[in-house]
Amino acid sequence: MVVRVGILGTGSAAELYHMPGYRENPEVQVVACSDQDVERARRFAKKYEIENVYADYHEMFEKARLNIVSICTPNYVHKTQAIEALETGINVLCEKPMAMNATEALDMVRAAQRARALLTIGHQHRFSTDAQILKRFIEAGELGTIYYARAQCLRRAGIPGWGAFHIKAKSGGGVLLDTGVHFLDLMLWLMGLPEPVAVTGATYTAFGNKPDNSVIGCGEYDRTEFDVEDFAYGLIRFAGGATMSLETCWAANIEFSDKITQQLLGDKGGATLYPLQVFAQRHRSLMDITPRALCQVNPYAEEIRWLIAAMRGEKELLVKPEQCYQVQRIMDAIYESAATEREVVFS
Ligand SMILES: NC(=O)c1ccc[n+]([C@@H]2O[C@H](COP(=O)([O-])OP(=O)(O)OC[C@H]3O[C@@H](n4cnc5c(N)ncnc54)[C@H](O)[C@@H]3O)[C@@H](O)[C@H]2O)c1
Repeated sequence: MVVRVGILGTGSAAELYHMPGYRENPEVQVVACSDQDVERARRFAKKYEIENVYADYHEMFEKARLNIVSICTPNYVHKTQAIEALETGINVLCEKPMAMNATEALDMVRAAQRARALLTIGHQHRFSTDAQILKRFIEAGELGTIYYARAQCLRRAGIPGWGAFHIKAKSGGGVLLDTGVHFLDLMLWLMGLPEPVAVTGATYTAFGNKPDNSVIGCGEYDRTEFDVEDFAYGLIRFAGGATMSLETCWAANIEFSDKITQQLLGDKGGATLYPLQVFAQRHRSLMDITPRALCQVNPYAEEIRWLIAAMRGEKELLVKPEQCYQVQRIMDAIYESAATEREVVFS
């Protein structure tokens, strides 16, 4: 049976990630799209031969007989649009971050619990080959007890110059909610979703609101509107004693244009992503147990395949809303700690 898909928000995430993911899947037909900029939606529909364009997404939910909607709009509308879709019985793939904050995320969790449809969030990194293989190593006990994780995603000159990423009222926050959220989610999942107990955070706006920063953006935005952080740091303590350090920025005076370091340390082994490398001590020697010739997949296509399998009851969702709510709680706590200059302890 054909899986009927609608795209809500026909901007860059829809174009670069969702459409290629759907087009890899012969079971799927993208039958409708909607955007508040209806001309943009029309151009999108023409390019991808999508039959129906809706100026009003409510009408798309009511009329297009969708099995899935991809929500690719700015963060401030994720909650409302996702809940409306769920209440109409449409399965939702909502882009990250789940919502503006944990309160909104919890509303979405509850709506998903009430609904006859599924809600998942676009944390595609969990579906990458490297992350999936590393998860197998971890579940086989090859890293032993994981006591430390480092999630680092640094850009030298990468402030998004489109959309609403730089406007807090529309994004909920800056680089933490944009890129930090991905690696916080990924490392939490790899660690087996430990319970966070305390968070210390710091955030800085070092570049984004300066009038003379043309070199540090990817694109142009109104500097006077920039009211979010371009650097965020967090130290998260978990029940059982493990910790994670999270460091993310859109711009910084560093030697790399882009640096992603995901590192896990366990008492039997350690690992880094990307690329996947595994390190251990065996037989009184240091071993590099790095998998070779991994077959790389498109993680967006994988997240869609997984959602469809979950809709059919063949497996559970990999990215569950309750887990994304925890991610959002931690991010809220990083902001709170940054504002109060104190550790935030979860009760
Ligand atoms: N998973 C990833 O790696 C990834 C990558 C990029 C963006 N994203 C996420 O995707 C979302 C969109 O980001 P983007 O880069 O595509 O932004 P964008 O600005 O390119 O696209 C957003 C689109 O939504 C439309 N829109 C805005 N408000 C709307 C509303 N109320 N109703 C209907 N349409 C509306 C805009 O007109 C625009 O076409 C964000 O939440 C972002 O965090 C995720």
